[in-house]
Amino acid sequence: MFKLVGINSLVTGGSRGIGLEISKELAKLGSNVCIVSRNGEINEKAVKELPIVCEGQKHFGMVYDLSQGIHELEPTIQKLKEMHSVKAFNIYVHSAGIIQSKLLLQTTSSDIQSIMNTNTISAMSISKSLLKDMVKERYGRIVLVSSVLAATGFPGESVYSASKSALIGFSKSLAQEMNRYNITCNLISPGYVDTDMIKHLKNSKLSNISKAEDVAKSILPLLDRDSAYNGKTVKIQGDSIVY
Ligand SMILES: NC(=O)c1ccc[n+]([C@@H]2O[C@H](COP(=O)([O-])OP(=O)(O)OC[C@H]3O[C@@H](n4cnc5c(N)ncnc54)[C@H](OP(=O)(O)O)[C@@H]3O)[C@@H](O)[C@H]2O)c1
Repeated sequence: MFKLVGINSLVTGGSRGIGLEISKELAKLGSNVCIVSRNGEINEKAVKELPIVCEGQKHFGMVYDLSQGIHELEPTIQKLKEMHSVKAFNIYVHSAGIIQSKLLLQTTSSDIQSIMNTNTISAMSISKSLLKDMVKERYGRIVLVSSVLAATGFPGESVYSASKSALIGFSKSLAQEMNRYNITCNLISPGYVDTDMIKHLKNSKLSNISKAEDVAKSILPLLDRDSAYNGKTVKIQGDSIVY
C-alpha cells in the first residue's frame, strides 16, 4: 500500500460517519488530517480518535458551518494553514452533507440555501482555495461524496439530489482542467450507508446498506500519486464497489 507521510489532507464532514472513516484511513497511511465540521466538541473528539502512525504526524480540526456561505471560507483556511504551518493540502475530501427529507412544497428558501451551500457550493469554493497550492506542488487529489440519488432522484430529496448531481458536472470539468498538473478529481456515489444520516429510516426495510468503513476504503485507489483515476464516479451499493 502507498504511504501519505508528510501529506496534508482536509476532510469536510470528517467528524462523523463516512468522513470520519475516511479521515481514519488517511491517518493510517501517515497523512496529517484536518477535520472540518460544525460541532466543536464532536470535532475535537474525532481528531483525538485519529491514529498516529509516524513521527511528526499531527491532526487538527477546523470548526466551520459550511451552510452559512463561502465568504469567510478562504480567509479561514488561510489562517488555519498559518496556525498549523501547512504549506499545502494535497488531498481534499468533501464528505460534509445534509439531507432534505421534505417535499419541495414544504421546503423553505433557507433549507435550499443550506443544502446547496453545505453539499455543493462549499465543495467548489474549498477546491478553488486549495488548488493554488496543489498546482504549485503538481500533486492534488480531490474526492467529492455524491449519492446514487444524483442520478435516480427520490421523493422528498429534490434539492438534495440536485446538490449531488451538480457535483458530477463540477468534478468531471475540474478533472479535465487540472489533469496536466497531476491533480485529479473523482466522485464516489454511495447508496445507503449505515450512518447518522439514515437513522430516521430505521423503521423502513432497507437493503444493500454499505458500511462506512468500506466506503472509506473505496477511495484509497483514487489517492495514490500514480493513480490513473480522474473524472470517474465510483458506484457503491452494499458490498459492491464499481470503479
Ligand atoms: N449515509 C448515507 O446513506 C449516504 C448515502 C449517499 C451519500 N451520502 C453522503 O455522504 C456524505 C457523508 O454522509 P454521512 O452519512 O457520513 O453523514 P453524517 O453521519 O450525518 O455526517 C455528516 C458530516 O457532515 C458534517 N456537516 C454537516 N453539516 C455541516 C455543515 N453545515 N458544516 C460543516 N460540516 C457539516 C457533520 O458534522 P457536524 O454535524 O458537526 O457539522 C458530519 O461530520 C454526505 O455528503 C452524504 O450526502 C450519505
